[in-house]
Amino acid sequence: MLQKQRKLILNDQQRDAMRRAGRVNASLMDYIRPHITAGITTGRIDEMIAQWTLDNGHTAATLGYQNFPKSCCTSVNEVICHGIPGDEELKEGDIVNIDVTTIVDGWHGDQSETFLIGEVSEERKAVTQCAFDCMHLAIDALTPGCTVSKIGETIVPEAHRRGFSVVREYVGHGLGKQFHLDPSIPHFPNRQSRIDRLFPGMCFTVEPMINAGTRYARCDKADGWTVRTKDGRPSAQFEHTVMMTEDGPEILTQCNDGPRKGHQF
Ligand code: MF3
Ligand code: CO
Ligand code: CO
Repeated sequence: MLQKQRKLILNDQQRDAMRRAGRVNASLMDYIRPHITAGITTGRIDEMIAQWTLDNGHTAATLGYQNFPKSCCTSVNEVICHGIPGDEELKEGDIVNIDVTTIVDGWHGDQSETFLIGEVSEERKAVTQCAFDCMHLAIDALTPGCTVSKIGETIVPEAHRRGFSVVREYVGHGLGKQFHLDPSIPHFPNRQSRIDRLFPGMCFTVEPMINAGTRYARCDKADGWTVRTKDGRPSAQFEHTVMMTEDGPEILTQCNDGPRKGHQF
């Protein structure tokens, strides 16, 4: 148990390696952002992400991960997560989450944003705003050594207050040299998250998925990946890689051009 915990605590050199991975991943997000517009296909977005990653000498973590076929996930409207890029053309009124994960010198940076395509419905905009605000509220609530449950304790009441629900089947995660590590980071409090603690030197993601309707999800049987809301209503997500430090949480995947805390969509 303790041995397992200790491995997750990074030394100064390892922390800097994670900072680099986060910065690279954020610059990839900044690169792709202006292309997320009506008319582009999710497959084309993926090609551009794959090319940028190779051109910069890095590796896309999702490509081949448990046989996932592409270099990013693209999740449109009622898709909660793990959408596979393909022929779908983005159109005015859509919301789309782009989730990118880059391996830089062996270390992972993982983040996602939900983009509004032109004018979108009030419901789609509100669920996107809620996911963004919940991610930042949760990160801000963290203190050195706090329990993982702080995250769920912050997110669930806020989402419910706005009339939305929090996905439980998919969670955030520790990361470093591996894509998905302990501790599991649920966006709702549970027994394990009341035990697990976030000590200085630990890296993890905060990536709440917020649904407009029911929290329940269904995975596509045909492709084995695409996760949709059970009721077909929209879902939104944001994700940052975070490092706990002696001074509190540090966001490793902050973009230069992307939305910052307090942003109004
Ligand atoms: N990037 C996702 C996450 O945040 C994981 C995608 S795994 C894939 O955890 F295989 F679906 F790409
Ligand atoms: Co993640
Ligand atoms: Co991700």
